[in-house]
Amino acid sequence: MQLHHVQRAPTRVPRYLSPVTIDDALAAFELHGVRARAIAGGTDLLVELDRGAHDDVEVLVDLSRIHGLDSITVGDGKIHLGALVTHSQVVESTACRELVLPLAQASLEVGSPQLRNRATVAGNVITASPANDTISALLALGAEIHIASTTGTRTVPIATFVSGFRTTVLAPDELVTGMSIPVLTGSQRGIFVKAGLRRAQAISVVHLTAIVTLDDDIVTDAVLTLGSVAPTVVTVPDLAEVLRGRRLDDTAIADAVAAARRTATPIDDLRSTAEYRTSLVSTMVGRALRALADDQQSGQWPIGAPLLRDIARSTAKANAVDVDAATEITATVNGATVTAAGAAGITLLDWLRDEAGLVGVKEGCAEGECGACTVHLDGAAVMSCLVPAARAAGSEVVTVEGLADDDRLAPIQAAFVEHGAVQCGFCTPGLLMSCAKLLDEHPAPTSRQVQLGLAGNLCRCTGYRAIERAIEQVASTQVSAP
Ligand SMILES: Cc1cc2nc3c(=O)[nH]c(=O)nc-3n(C[C@H](O)[C@H](O)[C@H](O)COP(=O)(O)OP(=O)(O)OC[C@H]3O[C@@H](n4cnc5c(N)ncnc54)[C@H](O)[C@@H]3O)c2cc1C
Ligand code: FES
Ligand code: FES
Repeated sequence: MQLHHVQRAPTRVPRYLSPVTIDDALAAFELHGVRARAIAGGTDLLVELDRGAHDDVEVLVDLSRIHGLDSITVGDGKIHLGALVTHSQVVESTACRELVLPLAQASLEVGSPQLRNRATVAGNVITASPANDTISALLALGAEIHIASTTGTRTVPIATFVSGFRTTVLAPDELVTGMSIPVLTGSQRGIFVKAGLRRAQAISVVHLTAIVTLDDDIVTDAVLTLGSVAPTVVTVPDLAEVLRGRRLDDTAIADAVAAARRTATPIDDLRSTAEYRTSLVSTMVGRALRALADDQQSGQWPIGAPLLRDIARSTAKANAVDVDAATEITATVNGATVTAAGAAGITLLDWLRDEAGLVGVKEGCAEGECGACTVHLDGAAVMSCLVPAARAAGSEVVTVEGLADDDRLAPIQAAFVEHGAVQCGFCTPGLLMSCAKLLDEHPAPTSRQVQLGLAGNLCRCTGYRAIERAIEQVASTQVSAP
């Protein structure tokens, strides 16, 4: 009998390695061959493993402790991202916002703050889904992907790197080490836009990136890439030809829309009909080009978008980890040292509940959608159902049990009680962890910041207004405190 995927026992990869150098990671791939699988943020891979994919994988090679792969640097007219740079880092980076705005806009659209705190840009590209938001931005910007193996290195344009629907040219013994992205020049304007079924945690129904080069308002070059409308993210081949030498007026934009419609070959699926996608392409391309014509490409960028984390912690001081079923890991959980085995092949959520006995952290969906499992890992709010348990070795974890000060509730907990922000209570531990981080980061958040900050936490009892009032109460106390 075929079981529904939620009834299957999760795939338990029995060995977890976390090297701190690229050479050690590459050596692990040479040794274990196709039985080894790289993991960065794990937000794609752990969901796939849980659904029974990659049954042959016996060793997870966690790259997230490799020293120096988490940096964003600028040089030679390019922005260079290490393979561990998260969407959250891109959103926070002034250089990314100023020099490669479409990438920053795409990263901001990925999932929710907790997801962005773990999910990497490189992982987004390697999964190579046509719905993956950063791919249209990186393709339009002309990014190059840097690859290494024990036999050498190579650099591949992203257009070649993605070879088909969810496939890339990456060989099993190769790792992506980073990417270089040409920055927009003073005469270029670029924008990324996305339509999903809701404003957060939503895979694109259509996404696109448009970049125009202007000389005194006349187009000298133009690029348009479209996602979720074909098996891979596609470039509109004749856009530059259509727009070159023209002003971006209504007629030119209508011709560009027609070119985009000729390129899109959408299908019906769970999220949309092909017909609706085609209609979205027209509307979105038209609006994107109008925004570029009016120099309004950054108009929707939210001021102070919450990250739900402290300053990003560097990997520079991490130690290597090697865990199998018998190995104990040690983590600091709610200020106390916790040592327990059983971390190989399970999630941090399961380890916290089953091995550390902290049942405040809840499992709602087990695939990053609901936020009930939110905890703080090394100062960042994360979905613990999408973190390998062994990632906690040597790290600091805070769960809802760690918010109160002995018997005294934390201010946000007391405010939840006072404002009736708890109904069935299942979402509450996760919401409290997100609220606590939001209030650390923005002591008096705006309503928009509250919406953005809590976008990864679902409450099926619809208690959001009461939750917002609880946040307002804590904010007013924090701001008025001497
Ligand atoms: C609830 C939810 C919502 C989401 N919403 C969005 C969304 O709105 N938009 C969107 O685009 N995506 C979304 N995603 C997908 C996912 O979060 C992104 O694709 C993410 O960027 C993947 O990065 P990661 O670091 O988590 O990758 P991982 O899961 O760690 O890895 C992804 C793949 O890349 C491989 N890999 C990772 N790093 C390397 C490397 N350096 N070298 C070689 N191989 C490597 C892994 O083996 C794996 O095959 C969502 C996912 C979830 C669960
Ligand atoms: S997001 Fe982790 S259980 Fe739902
Ligand atoms: S209070 Fe019931 S799910 Fe939020």
